[in-house]
Amino acid sequence: MTAVRDPSVRRSVTLFRAFLREQQDPEHVYGLLARDAVAQVARYAPVSGATVADVGGGSGHFTREFRRRGARCFLFEPDPRELHAHGPGPDGAVIADGYLLPLADGAADVCFSSNVLEHVADPPTFLSEMVRVTRPGGLIYVAFTNWYSPWGGHETAPWHYLGHERARARYRRRHGREAKHTVGENLFAVHVGATLRHVRARDDVEIVSARSRYWPFLAGAVTRVPGLREFATWNLLLILRRCPR
Ligand SMILES: C[S@@+](CC[C@H](N)C(=O)[O-])C[C@H]1O[C@@H](n2cnc3c(N)ncnc32)[C@H](O)[C@@H]1O
Repeated sequence: MTAVRDPSVRRSVTLFRAFLREQQDPEHVYGLLARDAVAQVARYAPVSGATVADVGGGSGHFTREFRRRGARCFLFEPDPRELHAHGPGPDGAVIADGYLLPLADGAADVCFSSNVLEHVADPPTFLSEMVRVTRPGGLIYVAFTNWYSPWGGHETAPWHYLGHERARARYRRRHGREAKHTVGENLFAVHVGATLRHVRARDDVEIVSARSRYWPFLAGAVTRVPGLREFATWNLLLILRRCPR
């Protein structure tokens, strides 16, 4: 299946249905999400022939899709278990931390990170490194699940609204094992308002688009309403362009 038009009701319904089948058919879900995200990038920058850095790329679904569409895509992932979680990671994957990418300044036409920002303790520094490796005029794609999103607690959601410790205790009781994520260790409370204020204040990027990643309509408007946006955005997508030097 190819990616469907973004945003549209059909696209959102397709993605939502796929998420419901994540446990039974993860390959289908991640493949669909990758086609969708790369199609989003392609609306703003050529993908074929582009040099792309996929930061925190996990097992490489996005890297594979960028390569399928003709990009020279390099995957940087600090955790080998994530890299090989769904079989061998893509060729040439590099074990590297997003805070310190082994790339020269301005090496990438597109710097891409999907659902990584909420897993780093210092999002502004992580973003700065993404900006550093992007060429002037190049594109930065950052999408993340914010803390007050219904999915903010990840596998413990939506019980994170009652507090992370209670949510973890409930997960332990229900599943007989610890939840994968611990707030303050590998999951952090990142907010829509604070992130938007941070990127607006930067002088090295311009915001091309700030919107809910999955919403079929009002995707930009929802991110402009303080309070509501922390719940309703669900997953914030930022498309940034690196300013010319
Ligand atoms: C939820 S997974 C997302 C993986 C993939 N980008 C996706 O959307 O399917 C979060 C990823 O962020 C990675 N990560 C955590 N801290 C990181 C850091 N400092 N630099 C780069 N990646 C990091 C994790 O290892 C993990 O692979």
